Amino acid sequence: MSSEENLQKLALQGAVKALGSIEGKGKPKIGVEEFMSVAERFGFSKAALKKIRAIASAEDMGSGPFLANYYSDLKETKVKGFERIARETFGTKHAIGVSSGTAALHSALVAVGVGPGKEVICPALGFYATAAAVVTAKGIPVFCDVDESLAMDPSEIEALITPRTVALAPTHIMGSVCNMGAIMKVARKHKLKVVEDCAQSCGGTFKGKLAGTFGDMGCFSISAYKIVGGGEGGLIITNSRRLWDRANQIAECGGLWRPDRFAKPRYNGELFCGTNYRMSELEAAVDQVQLERMPATVKRFHKVKMRILNRLKTFEEIVPQKLNDPDGEIGYQLRFFPKTAELSQKIATALQAEGISCGTRGKSTAPDWHIYSYMFPLTLKNGPTEANCPYECPLYIENGGQANYARGDCPTADGLFDRVVNVMLNQWFSAGDCRNVANGINKVLSAYCTPAADATPWL
Ligand SMILES: Cc1ncc(COP(=O)(O)O)c(C=O)c1O
Repeated sequence: MSSEENLQKLALQGAVKALGSIEGKGKPKIGVEEFMSVAERFGFSKAALKKIRAIASAEDMGSGPFLANYYSDLKETKVKGFERIARETFGTKHAIGVSSGTAALHSALVAVGVGPGKEVICPALGFYATAAAVVTAKGIPVFCDVDESLAMDPSEIEALITPRTVALAPTHIMGSVCNMGAIMKVARKHKLKVVEDCAQSCGGTFKGKLAGTFGDMGCFSISAYKIVGGGEGGLIITNSRRLWDRANQIAECGGLWRPDRFAKPRYNGELFCGTNYRMSELEAAVDQVQLERMPATVKRFHKVKMRILNRLKTFEEIVPQKLNDPDGEIGYQLRFFPKTAELSQKIATALQAEGISCGTRGKSTAPDWHIYSYMFPLTLKNGPTEANCPYECPLYIENGGQANYARGDCPTADGLFDRVVNVMLNQWFSAGDCRNVANGINKVLSAYCTPAADATPWL
């Protein structure tokens, strides 16, 4: 066929293809520069970066990596690997890597049935994201007071249950664990779902069982500050296939999680509109390593806390935080409640002077998103539009609902939060460091308080 004929005939009629091959040669979409940017973020020195660049540039990266979690040529993407490690670590049937702890909570809460007209019982102390996720799921948070463990007080839950309640969302607070035995008892009695917020206590256990594996779903944050802290990420674990489906439908509404994304619903209610909370491959690459390290990290923190607690003396004016399970405590903080907020302040100042890192919340009116009464985006009850959903949703109001949030609703939380002293612990403390910290605490408490052998013990 002449070239003239080729120009007129279609390739379908046997002519040579108009574009047989591409001459233009580009660079990989993701290549050495992106890799260097990651290496730079890791904080390597200039000299190290130079070496990394030289080695990376010598490799032929072809078209470079394609950082997709789905439709990848890899046998196991980093996200899938992270989810496998999570299943192995927690012993659950399912795990979903997501973009944040808040995303995990939102997905899990919708999965268990939170929606218009429904209430979720949340702890008065924890973090704003738990209650905020209830609201973004169009439900209403109802705050439950805490006990001296700073976690949801199981004996306070029943009084808050209404026909609108669908779930409990206990938070395992700051390296400690909730009394999950008692909480699950109430949940089962009232047929309520349980979504555990484990963002602050990844790796904590209650009676030998990992936090996050008691309820219907466990949610974790993998933000930089957490025990497993990769930057910004989240994790959902569950043993229920149906809840896994539903959480995926919220977190990955493109349907890529389904065997056939375009298949008709396989059962009534399978498909509904969600959003995209997918975890990124880069995040998962870090999170895999972080999660594998978690047991050793927890073990180190636990040892440090126990070494210190075992050396502390008891005082009339000091109530140590109640540990629902001392053996399951992670232990990155040590907490106690002096009799007054003023005494807390004096003790904290003296401890800091001793070189012991600690803080108080103080009796302040400053917004603090760890206590219900100061979570003002919630307490203001402002929805994003004039209809003021979910606070004034007819499905809520007409069913007797009335959301009100004010300091005083949860008096134990108010009192403890005003007085708590948080001592920060370091997983790398040596036995000597632990002794020095314990001696420092004993010295300061002896200066301001009355020694009493029969006062509340630390363990
Ligand atoms: C108890 C609790 N829940 C949820 C979150 C939210 O996690 P993220 O920041 O990953 O969305 C946090 C974060 O600090 C938290 O402490």
